[in-house]
Amino acid sequence: MNWAPGEFAERIVTWQRRQGRHGLPWQGTREPYRVWLSEIMLQQTQVSTVLDYYARFLQRFPDVAALASASQDEVLALWSGLGYYSRARNLHRCAQEVVARFGGRFPRAAADLQTLPGIGRSTAAAIAAFCFGERSAILDGNVKRVLTRVLGIGDDLSVAAHERALWQRAQDLLPAAERDMPAYTQGLMDLGATVCTQRRPACTVCPVVDRCAAAREGQPERYPVKTRRLVRRQQTLWLLHAIDGGGRVWLAQRPASGIWARLYCLPAHDDRDALLRGVPTGARDSVVEHPPFTHVLTHRDLLIHVLTATLPEGAPPGGDGRWYAAGQWPALGLPAPVRRFLAAQAEAARPGAVS
Ligand code: ADE
Repeated sequence: MNWAPGEFAERIVTWQRRQGRHGLPWQGTREPYRVWLSEIMLQQTQVSTVLDYYARFLQRFPDVAALASASQDEVLALWSGLGYYSRARNLHRCAQEVVARFGGRFPRAAADLQTLPGIGRSTAAAIAAFCFGERSAILDGNVKRVLTRVLGIGDDLSVAAHERALWQRAQDLLPAAERDMPAYTQGLMDLGATVCTQRRPACTVCPVVDRCAAAREGQPERYPVKTRRLVRRQQTLWLLHAIDGGGRVWLAQRPASGIWARLYCLPAHDDRDALLRGVPTGARDSVVEHPPFTHVLTHRDLLIHVLTATLPEGAPPGGDGRWYAAGQWPALGLPAPVRRFLAAQAEAARPGAVS
């Protein structure tokens, strides 16, 4: 499908101004710190989830220097529940690099932003477009979907050359004027998130439906084409919920790499026997097994079993870690399923709780 220069951009900009999302807390600013923080939080995460976290982060870390001088533990704790924790670790490292390499001011050019931890090509372009009007194309998952459908690009995007070609098409479609870049960039994001959705796109309200190749063919969901499907792995994890007579829980910080890196967690084991070896012999009779539950990660489904063991005061389970009182663990960076489990246990143990 051919577009005259500027025509596609004009439609997107006009649509964004009338029908796009407005009034989100990161839209009223051109301050790179605030825009960067929102873009990182919004990766793989819905706007409704991000709102609270964004406000809390800004309150605790009002600028990049404040974030850079925080401890990684504190950053992870504030991030806890947002998932994809490598984002939080990179966020912290990025703030430190902005201070060390750029004197505490984010660089303006997408090419420089992209050299910072956690900022990929599309995120760098979004920050540069929103804050400085740079004519630089974004191409995240939503935008790939919009462009392949509108242009009718059926090439397999897991082939690097095809993805490169799509970047070029995205660049060719940009508005000529820098002042239109923020609305255009936001418009593509909004269109992908609210109209040109993966399943059952709302083609009747789309501003470019009359020129959309996929809509004309009648099967927009066939785009984008990606043959290299993610192979999902299944993994079973056994967590030891060790508590002592005083209601404290045993938590250990995870290693620096691998699943839930550096978060605080119940001791994790590959199987039931390995878990039980961490329970002192005298406490084995106290063990209670909870119904297993599934937690979905990007590349794998975790089947989580939790066993509660009540240990005598002063008799910790084997391995690293320490006891945390009921008022202490909520402030730690915990994996979401562990936080939910502990909160449910605390609620059930509350006097007067219905069990
Ligand atoms: N997803 C990624 N960036 C976004 C933004 N600026 N607004 C809404 N959703 C987004």
